[in-house]
Amino acid sequence: MQNICAIVAIGENNEIGFENSLLWHLPDDFKWFKKHTLGCPVIMGRKTFESIGKPLPGRLNIVISSKSIQQEGIELVQSIEQALQIAKSQSKDIFVIGGQMVYKEFEDYYNKLIITRVLGSFKADAFWQIPLESYDLKYSLFHPIDEKHRYAMEFCVYQKP
Ligand SMILES: NC(=O)c1ccc[n+]([C@@H]2O[C@H](COP(=O)([O-])OP(=O)(O)OC[C@H]3O[C@@H](n4cnc5c(N)ncnc54)[C@H](OP(=O)(O)O)[C@@H]3O)[C@@H](O)[C@H]2O)c1
Repeated sequence: MQNICAIVAIGENNEIGFENSLLWHLPDDFKWFKKHTLGCPVIMGRKTFESIGKPLPGRLNIVISSKSIQQEGIELVQSIEQALQIAKSQSKDIFVIGGQMVYKEFEDYYNKLIITRVLGSFKADAFWQIPLESYDLKYSLFHPIDEKHRYAMEFCVYQKP
């Protein structure tokens, strides 16, 4: 079965970003993200790509934009359908990695959601109201505050039945 999966880190008020940046620095969330996405296609909007600043290594980076971007190491597409067509031809597991606009556009396609709930409130200008109604929680793991993590987190995996 093909998995079309959103992977997101989200605050207590559905916030995901501010001024085209993440809201926190949480190394174990980066590890969690890498563990899931490595070797798989990752689909992102042009602004998220600019925010990351370079292609993510070891993954097919599919960037959606209406513009022409000059950048090696990415697959540039102009629609979500084109992004899906390329990603599906490459792997059984496909990850949509943001941002606000792109998470929402793919809502009809997901069958899996990988969510890091960051236990805090943040000033933000990018949000995602995750549509969880038709998903079952399959996994959850609490990560406490420690010297490298200013906020506690909960790693969650949801799947459609
Ligand atoms: N917390 C998290 O897990 C997480 C993850 C990723 C991103 N973020 C945050 O999300 C924010 C960025 O979100 P955003 O909504 O501003 O930007 P975005 O979704 O990353 O990118 C939006 C851009 O993607 C292109 N695009 C999207 N859909 C398209 C379509 N159907 N056809 C053609 N082009 C399309 C357009 O680019 P053009 O304007 O070039 O046409 C559009 O301006 C940042 O704050 C970032 O830090 C958070």
